[in-house]
Amino acid sequence: MSNNSGIFNRFSGKGVYPHQLAWILLLPFRNFYLSPRKLIKRMNLRQDCVVLELGCGPGYFSPFVAQAIPDGKLFLTDIQPEMLAKAEMRLKKKNISNVELIFCDGQSLPFEDNFFNCIYLVTVLGEIVEKETYTKEMYRILKPGGVLSISEQGGDPDSLQLDVVKDIFLPAGFVFDRVFGKSKTFTANFIRP
Ligand SMILES: C[S@@+](CC[C@H](N)C(=O)[O-])C[C@H]1O[C@@H](n2cnc3c(N)ncnc32)[C@H](O)[C@@H]1O
Repeated sequence: MSNNSGIFNRFSGKGVYPHQLAWILLLPFRNFYLSPRKLIKRMNLRQDCVVLELGCGPGYFSPFVAQAIPDGKLFLTDIQPEMLAKAEMRLKKKNISNVELIFCDGQSLPFEDNFFNCIYLVTVLGEIVEKETYTKEMYRILKPGGVLSISEQGGDPDSLQLDVVKDIFLPAGFVFDRVFGKSKTFTANFIRP
């Protein structure tokens, strides 16, 4: 199998999205499913929120979220340093500075307890191998009353149905708040009590 077909297989199958195809994640057709503006509205962010984007990829949503919290800060994490480098370049081009990028190892999240007002993941949850460990970590680093926002896109080979997403977070102590969107393409918000 050539390297290129290996990358394509990772793109069209389950598993971690290949950074070589990050450009596809930056195509504006994505707005048809979920635009940055719509995502920001769904997360109901205040201007001074401290926010974590887990699995930021090349940062399609990141600059817009950072601009929505001018008195706060956005942290970006990913397990692929190549993705973080692409996101960083995109933010630099737009002169956005209230952002910090942090490589994560897929096991733990290197932040203090009760640190974030909001954590969001867009088409990431299905790729996470250590879901139970990560779920506990997300609970630990969210402030009480903080929002965990999960967006899934139908057609993504790793996408999860709402019931499965609930089965991941409710046993960890999160409370389901509300869902936006349609059956396979949705944003589900949970609250950390
Ligand atoms: C399909 S891409 C989506 C990227 C971005 N959220 C977006 O919507 O454009 C999934 C991203 O999640 C990252 N990822 C997968 N497993 C992860 C983990 N355990 N921790 C952090 N990031 C992870 C991948 O490296 C990839 O960049």
